[in-house]
Amino acid sequence: MSSHVSFAHVDTENAALVDEFLPVLKERLAGGVFIGGEEVDRLERRIARLHQVEHAVAVNSGTDALRLTFRALGIPRGTTGITVANTFVATVGALLSEGINPLLVDVGADENVDVAALEEAITPDTSVVVAVHLRGLPAEIAAVREICARRGVHLVEDCAQAVLASAGGVPVGAFGVAGCFSLHPLKNLGACGDAGVVVTNDDALAAELRLLRNHGLRDRDTVVRWGENSRLDALQASLLNVKLDHLEEWTRRRRDLAARYDELLADLPLVLPPRPEDRVHVYHRYSVMTEHRDALRAHLADAGVQTAVHYPIPIHRQPAARGGQLRIAGRGLAVTERQAGQILSLPLHPLMPERDLRATAREVRAFFESRPR
Ligand SMILES: Cc1ncc(COP(=O)(O)O)c(C=O)c1O
Repeated sequence: MSSHVSFAHVDTENAALVDEFLPVLKERLAGGVFIGGEEVDRLERRIARLHQVEHAVAVNSGTDALRLTFRALGIPRGTTGITVANTFVATVGALLSEGINPLLVDVGADENVDVAALEEAITPDTSVVVAVHLRGLPAEIAAVREICARRGVHLVEDCAQAVLASAGGVPVGAFGVAGCFSLHPLKNLGACGDAGVVVTNDDALAAELRLLRNHGLRDRDTVVRWGENSRLDALQASLLNVKLDHLEEWTRRRRDLAARYDELLADLPLVLPPRPEDRVHVYHRYSVMTEHRDALRAHLADAGVQTAVHYPIPIHRQPAARGGQLRIAGRGLAVTERQAGQILSLPLHPLMPERDLRATAREVRAFFESRPR
């Protein structure tokens, strides 16, 4: 019997909140403030508090959060920014758009930056390390911070997938000079359109970001920098404020569902997501690894279970990379490439019924049990 387990969840989440959204939207429409204003300020205060930092600066997207951070830090064009190849393209695209040359390093078993490879890759030309917390699992960020501090390199965290994740009790975003979040509709805290935010403890950086996101305007009539328009609109901020009321509960639910998958899949020949004791994973994605990924994915599709692969083509293998702007660190990207052929994201979202999770786990088991040993 086919199961019909859907991978996407944006519609379900928004449908569940529609009765909370509507009065807020009515109020905003009547209020007439559509750019910035109290809802944006409130969102910034709440995100700063949740991530235990001094400042949160809302911008138009996670990509802008990264780009404007690099610019606000004054990272010189032509220098090197180190990151990984198994991330959403925006991590690398943001470096390129600010004239910073990406150097890609390999990852470890946790799919995040390999700390030893990173240390080896830093040269006097390196200006910034962008550490991605992929799928909501923090990278080994305390070690990365130590290396960056010792080598005199900025650390920017790409927290796009990791709202509320933490390492050693410290929320992500507070380790680097800045943490950049995407609030894209598909993220754990997702707007109904594009949105992003930068968190930082650095007063000067926050002030610079506030200028850059609004044409460099110090006040209505005085331009002190060449900036741009990357403001968050008030309607999105008010929807995000509604969603924030549910975020902690929904994150707990994600973690409970992940623990349930871990239990149900434990004895199968699959690599399950790592669970390092000192890191809180928020399961933006629940991703397993197997050499039989494509066959498993086809089996699940036949059984009505939707899955996804994040990301099937590492960035250095993308057609755009033929232009030659990307460099690969000395050790190569063997782990990244191997994992790209093995990863599979199973359905997981906070409002997912337990029966969908059980049906998915049952079909994964059926796949392995039907294979010749
Ligand atoms: C790891 C990562 N970095 C950056 C981004 C860019 O965010 P946005 O789509 O909001 O520009 C995303 C999400 O799309 C992402 O997953």
